[in-house]
Amino acid sequence: MNADGRTGLNQMPEWSALVKHREELGEVELRELFAADPGRGTSYVLRVGDLYIDYSKHLVTDRTLALLRDLAAATDVFGLRDAMFRGEKINTTERRAVLHTALRAPRDAVVEVDGENVVPGVHAVLDKMADFSRRIRSGEWTGHTGKRIRNVVNVGIGGSDLGPAMAYEALRAYTARDLTFRFVSNVDGADLHEALRDLDPAETLFIIASKTFTTIETVTNATSARSWLLNGLGGDESAVAKHFVALSTNAEKVAAFGIDTANMFEFWDWVGGRYSYDSAIGLSLMIAIGPERFREMLDGFRLVDEHFRTAPAEANAPLLLGLLGIWYNNFFDAQSHAVLPYSHYLSKFTAYLQQLDMESNGKSVDRDGRPVAWQTGPVVWGTPGTNGQHAYYQLIHQGTKLIPADFIGFARPVAELGDELAAQHDLLMANFFAQTQALAFGKTPEEVRAEGVPEELVAHKTFRGNHPTTTILAKELTPSVLGQLVALYEHKVFVQGAVWNIDSFDQWGVELGKVLAKRIEPALTEGADVPGLDASTKALVGTYRELRGR
Ligand code: F6P
Repeated sequence: MNADGRTGLNQMPEWSALVKHREELGEVELRELFAADPGRGTSYVLRVGDLYIDYSKHLVTDRTLALLRDLAAATDVFGLRDAMFRGEKINTTERRAVLHTALRAPRDAVVEVDGENVVPGVHAVLDKMADFSRRIRSGEWTGHTGKRIRNVVNVGIGGSDLGPAMAYEALRAYTARDLTFRFVSNVDGADLHEALRDLDPAETLFIIASKTFTTIETVTNATSARSWLLNGLGGDESAVAKHFVALSTNAEKVAAFGIDTANMFEFWDWVGGRYSYDSAIGLSLMIAIGPERFREMLDGFRLVDEHFRTAPAEANAPLLLGLLGIWYNNFFDAQSHAVLPYSHYLSKFTAYLQQLDMESNGKSVDRDGRPVAWQTGPVVWGTPGTNGQHAYYQLIHQGTKLIPADFIGFARPVAELGDELAAQHDLLMANFFAQTQALAFGKTPEEVRAEGVPEELVAHKTFRGNHPTTTILAKELTPSVLGQLVALYEHKVFVQGAVWNIDSFDQWGVELGKVLAKRIEPALTEGADVPGLDASTKALVGTYRELRGR
């Protein structure tokens, strides 16, 4: 029992019951679980909207799932969920509400923060974005010289980059192919250089995306982008108004940067950066796919929000996925979680989830600031599956680590592929199904021997199997399905943070590096004697200056 009367997670009877259950299960075998229950492949399945979620290949029994749900009940996951949806300030360290769900609420919904309904504001911004998007897409909005905009460059980092960049890639087949979209995030000047080198400033729109508008990488890149534009257009400052818009919560800083606040698309402090691409931060995406498709995506988000809010624990997909992650993370000592999409269009999906999950749940103190005595968020990693098969899958199959994985695939390729390329889709998906089967059931020494493999190679060719996976299958990757997938993961991350009793909505851990970078910069540029540099960093800075020719 803690001083405030709350029981620590690992002191709870529900936790102890899971520890005991884990011991009793011992070396649970997927082969045995399937042999004991021939219906498992269809009963351990949830359908949510367009998503078919198969969790049969997990090292769990009905009892495991019941015990995990008991833990969720004891930690009041649904209570915190309801508080989030009500707009309570559950981000306690920043004293903020957590209301990304309001970004996709219907026009007539009422969601209050400090007594004010935020939904009309959300729709006013969506309408303004839609109007602007239409003007860009139709050519009605022209640049300073009267040319139409052909290139859209989003400048932002973290949540102000990963979401729109990921979703643009995911929904490429729905994008206006006569427009070019680029996403610049890295403060390495090479990023901006490569993005701009073949673009005509007269046809280029910059979208400066920054919740705070103080992020040094973004402000630096935005400043360089402005110089590039002005150099290219003869230096007339009034060009900025036609070529720069801002997405931010900070009107003052936007104005100070020189962007007319009439060209600013607002969002609010109750939207976390990593939960923001369905807000104004998605403007580049909306220009790419059009307002109607963007709204279809929001509908997809909302569908899963409603599911999470109302489905009973037994059938609640985010709850289930969150608890399965906790099962491996806390009771099998799994350190990481792989997300493996079998879709080229989802090539940036896992990178997006890395911020969503690791910035949210990479915490080691509880909501009251006490060190946690249990593992929190896993390392999230992965790339599109078929490429991974020829790179790191070896370790998943035959290495010494337990790596639970999500496999995400689609029944239909995008329509524009054409017959020959579309025919490749079955091969892609054959790999998808083959991998989860091989991971789950492996190949026994007997099976290897039966193939005539010489005895000295049997151990090498044996697959232990028993690697747990979730399979998420949908008909096709539409805007709505993308929204459903993202909301599924958002709420999964929420569930885990709630059980671990951590604040999933702050990110103080990234601050120290930012402060130190600012302090170190004069040492690099001017050779300034920066107090507080440790011996290693001081020597490295000296070597850097030498190599840099300073
Ligand atoms: O570095 C952390 C972070 O604050 C993220 O949470 C955020 O998404 C990113 O920086 C960018 O912040 P901003 O949108 O304020 O520029």
